[in-house]
Amino acid sequence: MTTATSGDLTLPLLGGRHHFLLRRLHSLTGIVFGGYLVVHLIVNATLLQGVGSHNVFQTQVDKIHSLPFLIIVETLFIYLPILYHGIYGTWITFTAEPNVNRYPYGKNWFYFFQRVSAIVLIFFIAFHVLGMKGVFWSSKLAFDPEHATATTIRHINASWLTAFVIYPIGILASCYHTANGFWTAGITWGLTISAAGQKRWGYVCSGLFVFLLACGMLALYAAVRDAGSLNQLLPNLPRR
Ligand code: HEM
Repeated sequence: MTTATSGDLTLPLLGGRHHFLLRRLHSLTGIVFGGYLVVHLIVNATLLQGVGSHNVFQTQVDKIHSLPFLIIVETLFIYLPILYHGIYGTWITFTAEPNVNRYPYGKNWFYFFQRVSAIVLIFFIAFHVLGMKGVFWSSKLAFDPEHATATTIRHINASWLTAFVIYPIGILASCYHTANGFWTAGITWGLTISAAGQKRWGYVCSGLFVFLLACGMLALYAAVRDAGSLNQLLPNLPRR
């Protein structure tokens, strides 16, 4: 019997004896950001309810923006976790040893796609956040909480690339990475030890993947569907 485990290239280089703690923090920040993503996608899915007299999406955004200490809550539970998770995750990704060509088993493919989706997410999250903040490319990407529904629709429809390439790929990567990440986190924290336990948790995470993907894609569909309403929603702002 051998007790050998696979090499972990991050061990001697990053964190040294704090390596275990840094890994756990990477997992924890992934779970925290994953929780935020679930709420974010459910709120976005209210775009499906349309731009009529009762604008449900705007109501949700107003509720979020009326929370006390919003900037502190956002910094602690959104910006810092994803920053740490992204930086440490980039290191893990580029020191990974994918072995799908030698062992083409399901779990290895999940591991491989966890890293592929991570790389996609670095670019997607940067585009999404900087675009929404109006930092680059076009002011038509900028989000204004006072005109939440209209500026979200304008953002998505800024170009065919945003609506039909960037967002479908970004949503797919986010949903896969989160659902598969929740599955591996069960192992990281010692909650799913037996094969049966991992299988059961796998069903839950697969359900989560389908649910998140449906929320994300339906919100995207609604934004494209309602592009024609921009004239009436944003009479004084640039539309394209
Ligand atoms: C939508 C945004 C993201 C969410 C919700 C998220 C969530 C998670 C979760 C819950 C895990 C599982 C942790 C564990 O196994 O204990 C994970 C793993 C991972 N994440 Fe993320 N993450 C996101 C973005 C990113 C980004 C931008 C990177 C940057 C490269 C990244 C890199 C990684 C890597 C490499 C792993 C695998 C760690 C391992 O197997 O040891 N993630 N993520």
